[in-house]
Amino acid sequence: MREEFKTIDIGELKETLEGRKVKIAGWIYTKNVLGKLIFYRIRDGTGIIQVAIKRGEIPEDEFEEAAKALRESSVSIEGILRRDPRAPNGLEVRAKNVKILGESLEDYPIKPGETVEFLLDNRHLHIRGLKMSAVMRIRAKTINIMREWLEKRGYVEVHAPTLITAACEGGATLFEVKYFDRKAYLTQSSQLYLEALIYSLGKVYTIQPSFRAEKSRTRRHLTEFWHLEVEEAFASQEDIMRTEEELLIYTTERVKEECRRELSILGREIEKIEAPFRRITYDEAIEALNKEGLKIKVGEDFGVPHEERLCKIFGYPLFVMHYPREIRAFYHKPSSDPRRVICHDLLIWPYGEIIGGGQRIDDYNELLARIKESKLDPSEYRWYLDLRKFGSVPHSGFGLGVERFVAYLCKLDHIRDAIPFPRTPARVYP
Ligand code: 4AD
Ligand code: MG
Repeated sequence: MREEFKTIDIGELKETLEGRKVKIAGWIYTKNVLGKLIFYRIRDGTGIIQVAIKRGEIPEDEFEEAAKALRESSVSIEGILRRDPRAPNGLEVRAKNVKILGESLEDYPIKPGETVEFLLDNRHLHIRGLKMSAVMRIRAKTINIMREWLEKRGYVEVHAPTLITAACEGGATLFEVKYFDRKAYLTQSSQLYLEALIYSLGKVYTIQPSFRAEKSRTRRHLTEFWHLEVEEAFASQEDIMRTEEELLIYTTERVKEECRRELSILGREIEKIEAPFRRITYDEAIEALNKEGLKIKVGEDFGVPHEERLCKIFGYPLFVMHYPREIRAFYHKPSSDPRRVICHDLLIWPYGEIIGGGQRIDDYNELLARIKESKLDPSEYRWYLDLRKFGSVPHSGFGLGVERFVAYLCKLDHIRDAIPFPRTPARVYP
């Protein structure tokens, strides 16, 4: 009678197991039939391994099946682990049994040379690839490391609603949804709710989706993105910027350490970043851009080319501070120059802004005036105004776009590859 073996993760196969019988299960990543010998490369999400199947060493019917099986069929294989210098990672399983579990019914459509559109239409299959898997692992690690850092610093994780009625970042990018017999919107940012929660918890954060009905077809815009947002009572803009520096440096270093395999699949060597990050003002940025021949007037917001150029001129990560009030949302606290607000964007090449943050208005009358000036309906913001009525405090916070950060860490050409199922103006499928 045959012994039953427990299936082992391919990522666990080490040289110390050489000569041992192992059982693996996964998908046929590549197949090569050379007469009496079949080579598979099998992947299971934890790693990839070469399998050699020799006629005569496994039951004949299994050999026939193994030779016929198409790419991406799922298989379970028992065999002896051997060193083989010709194998991609120096190890090979010499098969004793091969069982096809789920046959691919037709030729696997993901092949080299397919167009971007084709790959996006077949995203549910494309995500099986080694590069996409590596990015998803880095994404998961990045989120976990940031969460761990925030927890250690005493920030409390909270969750805000997705369905909302009061815009945070201006009416132009709201997705409207029918909410029974009234209108509601998909949240653009959890900030306003985080501001309510600092009165219960002091320091809070959330990691959840935000939505923007932005038709911008750039390589850094999604209509649904994951947003890490932090809000802190009694914190100045400078306090929160230091938090951002530490969080980014810590996360980057740990991703480098813990995602070596994934980063090497992507051919990415992440540059070292050090605190303090360079700080410039919006006015300095405008001056520098005009000096370089990019015509931009005071009062205009930066686009990707401006932010890229600023990173080239000043280095990165780069804080750009004190934007004009007319190009920032209503909640920002004015600075000593009332035409400017206490806010900052953090820019990283080549994505530009990955964080937006600043200090919030904490005075009731000032906030009410800004809401009216911004042509918003104060009755929609009654609860938000209440926060300034009962024990208001100076407070600051920021929002980091998870996909933009992951795209930077992985050096992706486009932000859509930082999320398994991207949502863009042109795409809500699959
Ligand atoms: O600069 P934003 O719009 O700021 C806010 O939403 C604030 N309420 C955040 C806060 O202070 N709590 O967005 C913050 C970040 C941006 O820097 C960017 O990284 C990301 O969210 N982001 C997007 N990422 C992908 N696609 C989009 N369309 C994005 N819009 C913003
Ligand atoms: Mg912004």
